[in-house]
Amino acid sequence: MLRDLLSIRRDPLAYLERTAARFGDRVAFPMPKTPVLLVGTTAGARRVLVENAGAWSKATIQYGALSLVTGSGLLTSDGSAWREARRVAQPAFHRSGLAAVAEQSVAAAERVRARAAVEGEVVDVDAAVLQATLEVVGRTLFGGDVTADGERVVAAVLEALEVVIGRARTPLPGWLPTPATRRLARANRVMDEVVARVVARRRTAGDLGDDLLGLLLRAVDEGRLPPESVRAELVTMVIAGHETVASCLTWTLDLLAQNPGAQDRLHAELDAVLGAEGGAGHRAPAWEDLRDLTWTRAVVDESLRLYPPAWVVTRRAESDDVVDGTAVPAGTLVIVSPWLLQRRADVHPDPERFDPGRFTGEGPEVPRGSYLPFGAGARLCIGRDFALTEAVLVLAALLRDRRVDPVPGDEPVLEALVTLRPRGGLRLRLRRR
Ligand code: HEM
Repeated sequence: MLRDLLSIRRDPLAYLERTAARFGDRVAFPMPKTPVLLVGTTAGARRVLVENAGAWSKATIQYGALSLVTGSGLLTSDGSAWREARRVAQPAFHRSGLAAVAEQSVAAAERVRARAAVEGEVVDVDAAVLQATLEVVGRTLFGGDVTADGERVVAAVLEALEVVIGRARTPLPGWLPTPATRRLARANRVMDEVVARVVARRRTAGDLGDDLLGLLLRAVDEGRLPPESVRAELVTMVIAGHETVASCLTWTLDLLAQNPGAQDRLHAELDAVLGAEGGAGHRAPAWEDLRDLTWTRAVVDESLRLYPPAWVVTRRAESDDVVDGTAVPAGTLVIVSPWLLQRRADVHPDPERFDPGRFTGEGPEVPRGSYLPFGAGARLCIGRDFALTEAVLVLAALLRDRRVDPVPGDEPVLEALVTLRPRGGLRLRLRRR
């Protein structure tokens, strides 16, 4: 078991792949207290996330660890507390809100371009898109309130997540007063402070507004949510809506740099939709262009197949169940891995090949239920359309007159933390085309 723990720690993706290859679609880990089942099939994922979702909770190590940072928020809670919070937050993610996401995404990408011009050709695209996605979440959901304190929040969130993920992978009890525990407490204090400032600013402004912060504050005033849920949901959105989209954008840019044919076609689409090079020039993309940016969208969809930022989703069985033929006693932890499912050769032909045509009808079909980058069922990502709008428009704005190329000898190293990250950043050459 210790050997397993060590190899999970070293390279969790390789461990998942090796284990599934060796033991098959359903792997039971005979852990002493809590049985763990790794489910690698579409039917198994569907049973747990959709068909019998009511029998499964988020009382898992993964979400327990996250809740050390978020508290009880949408990502980590269950039952009636979750249902009410989802009802309160949902209107912030309706189509009407996506126009604001589009506008902020383009503006954030334009700032990345301006900074890249100053920095020269080789750009750490990971750092650049992390900054951009934080700005988008901050400005659209909290009306810009978080951006003022943006850098402090990012640093605090990343620090807290690092501690939490490290803790989830060690057998040491969390209450031990280690340097990591102290770092977590410090990061949490920064988040408390920033959120308190944001709330105070909004309350003194008089009008609560109808963005997420306004919806949450009104629900607290009406007694629908407990006061602490404002902090929980704001931190949840920063965590769920920032690094995930950044991870998607970073790997998409890397895939485009590695696949010049797909990048050329993306440029041709941008030329057609946003105006051709040499003519009046390219204009910045906008919300209305989304429906015409079909290849750009397929590139993002395919990138999310190969690099699903949320590479594992976990649940705990609250009652006995049968998952794709395997009897599962109450108390079992189940791991559903989009990474494994979306790279199965029997489901996705030539799975390692980057082929956006899978999503345009030109390539092999992506069978229903075998593609879960945003989860499935009632707990489907609330920010799915937000993320897709943002990713497509940031790419379009960034690449309308530039191209990305690899930096020879500087290959990224994939690291599976809370999301899939490039260790030490990801440098690409970004130049005018
Ligand atoms: C490419 C970007 C994103 C990916 C890959 C992603 C992935 C996911 C996945 C897989 C889940 C389900 C987890 C589970 O079932 O256990 C989820 C839930 C969630 N996501 Fe996202 N997400 C992304 C972007 C966003 C954005 C932009 C936001 C908010 C601004 C967001 C907010 C949330 C929240 C609040 C939940 C919990 C929903 C609930 O249970 O009611 N996500 N996300």
